[in-house]
Amino acid sequence: MNAAELQKIDRACLWHPFTQMHDYAVRDLLLIDRAEGLKLYDHRGRGYFDTISSWWCIVHGHGHPTMQEHVRAQLERLDQVLLAGTSHEPAIRLAAKLVELTPPTLSRVFYSDNGSTACEVAVKMSLQYWQQRGKPRRRSLVGLERGYHGDTIGTMSLGGVPEFHGPFAHLMFPSHRVPPPYCYRCPVGEASPGVAQWDSPTARPECDCRCLGPLEKLLAEEGEEIAAFILEPRILAAGGMIVYPAVWLRRAAELTRRHGVHLIFDEVASGFGRTGRMFALESAGVAPDFLCLSKGLTGGMLPMAVTMTSEEIYQAFYAEYAAGKTFFHGHTFSGNPLAAAAALGSLAIFRQEQTLAGLPAKIAHLRQRLERFQELPWVGDLRGLGMIAALELVRDKAAKTPFAPVERVGWPIYLAGLEEGLILRPMGNVVYLWLPLSTTIDEITEITERMWRVLCNPANIKAL
Ligand SMILES: Cc1ncc(COP(=O)(O)O)c(C=O)c1O
Repeated sequence: MNAAELQKIDRACLWHPFTQMHDYAVRDLLLIDRAEGLKLYDHRGRGYFDTISSWWCIVHGHGHPTMQEHVRAQLERLDQVLLAGTSHEPAIRLAAKLVELTPPTLSRVFYSDNGSTACEVAVKMSLQYWQQRGKPRRRSLVGLERGYHGDTIGTMSLGGVPEFHGPFAHLMFPSHRVPPPYCYRCPVGEASPGVAQWDSPTARPECDCRCLGPLEKLLAEEGEEIAAFILEPRILAAGGMIVYPAVWLRRAAELTRRHGVHLIFDEVASGFGRTGRMFALESAGVAPDFLCLSKGLTGGMLPMAVTMTSEEIYQAFYAEYAAGKTFFHGHTFSGNPLAAAAALGSLAIFRQEQTLAGLPAKIAHLRQRLERFQELPWVGDLRGLGMIAALELVRDKAAKTPFAPVERVGWPIYLAGLEEGLILRPMGNVVYLWLPLSTTIDEITEITERMWRVLCNPANIKAL
């Protein structure tokens, strides 16, 4: 089929995710034909830098030969099998590796197939745990405003991005929400520099984290009734690439622990090196009761997710069948052998190529290349963590006035990015890079140069 025929059928049959299809009534979708390394190629052979890692999951670039070998070899042995009453080598080996890589308290791995389910599993395990430990009153949940854990009804009920959730408000279960550590727009009005919130365990040491006040109050008043607090460590991704200091995470964890509340870390997006460390939690030296992973778990090649937890939680479910303590949850593709092989391939690359050791130089270069973007009158904030960098665009820099959502400041930037051979996909007023860890120093230079050409041109900031 040629491209025109494919576009025609696409228009007739497909409904794309997170997309207003009307945008493509006359404009064609970008038809991707193949990918290699950092680039996606369209049907005309034109290359585009995949600067957002194909929705934050590609880790070692597209089509890494080691990943391909792992999946190909697995394809010849076993493609799919249920994981209830059956097991298989890739799922077993991967579980052992994940236990090795994560904090020592996380000893159990439960498989599912996407980020939303990884979080739902953690929530359900926590709630059932409290019932089975004789504390049924612990049944409410806490999340962060601007937190995001997926699009299922359950995860929407814990997220804080109202733009996505509005029409389903009546279906969502009640839960508590506390303010996020959004330093650029500090919830307690601390003067914020409006400049680089770049990662460092000592970033903003002067901050006394007064924005934790509402969480502290909630825990003091209702802590006995709270089962779990779910949050994204160090960066609220879909909520606007809000990078926050390690000290906040550490203090939030301490507070939660003090009240016996479970901590659920959602590292679906931040896991597997993206923040410069294997897991973002390492920067704060804290361990959760549940750790949710997906996206980069398989290097982005195949869908897979895990929820990791402790022996103490696992043991609350371990009993004679008649005791009624089984965790009745599972997915058709839980622990799929091909996906597990891809994940093992990705972890092999981390070891063979010493991926993490190569990151500090790349991160420093990225940071240095982005500094000049702060000169632009419409760049209010520059923040970054590892291979992630974000620019928050504002109408008025001094007053930090945001563009209204209907102004859709990101759309012309997206289109101009395509002209420059970049897949930029701004979220609201935030333009960001979420780079594969394999991005080279030269590629960082090239990408940021092209991005500069897009953003320095007032014609692309049409909402102004
Ligand atoms: C932090 C976080 N949690 C959960 C999810 C949901 O993952 P999925 O889209 O695979 O359901 C996402 C997706 O972007 C995410 O960023």
